Amino acid sequence: AHHPLIAPSILSADFARLADEVAAVEGPPGRGADWLHVDVMDAHFVPNLTLGLPVVKSLLAATDVPLDCHLMIENPDHWAIGYAESGAYNVTVHVEAAADPVALARNLRAAGSKAGLAIKPNTPLEPYVEVLRSYDTLLVMSVEPGFGGQKFIADVLGKVRTARTMVDTGHLNLVVEIDGGINADTIEQAAEAGVDCFVAGSAVYAADDPARAVEDLRSQARA
Ligand code: DX5
Ligand code: ZN
Repeated sequence: AHHPLIAPSILSADFARLADEVAAVEGPPGRGADWLHVDVMDAHFVPNLTLGLPVVKSLLAATDVPLDCHLMIENPDHWAIGYAESGAYNVTVHVEAAADPVALARNLRAAGSKAGLAIKPNTPLEPYVEVLRSYDTLLVMSVEPGFGGQKFIADVLGKVRTARTMVDTGHLNLVVEIDGGINADTIEQAAEAGVDCFVAGSAVYAADDPARAVEDLRSQARA
């Protein structure tokens, strides 16, 4: 049956209690977080600084939930590979930052992870269709990257629809992921546009019961 993927973002978690915060979204089998979204920011590509490879390595040891690492950093051609080699399930780089995204995808896959390509809200999809043949996931940003808790930009759903059509007609083989402002008010329109995987930070971690929030979001995405 159709299983929308839900990827809680630990950007909205308490960084002093990360293992507990991850456990809080693991939930019962098949009903908790499908992926754990980890936002890596370098204070250069985006105006914020979060965490890097040492914390990701600790997270990999602390959970069996696949890690979805979203690298909002400059020079991903150099830095991304370490995340793949360490065991991240999916490593997503920004097309705006990558010098050679096709070679980078090849290197990520060779290192054992899936390869993800992220596009900011104002970045068009069309110029990268051929590049996307090398990728496993497409992360459509629905806020300007850098901070949690921002307002959903519905204009990006046109890109989601385009990607969905290309996947459904066999032109591309991608998991279509959306990131930013996903909550109970916005997830249905994203699902309708064809999203496979929904990142949610504040909507999950501001909830009294984060695991329940994950289940509720998935039910809404399925509706
Ligand atoms: C923003 C990050 C997002 C962020 C989403 O740059 O890429 O993953 O955590 O947070 P919410 O769901 O609160 O918009
Ligand atoms: Zn993210």
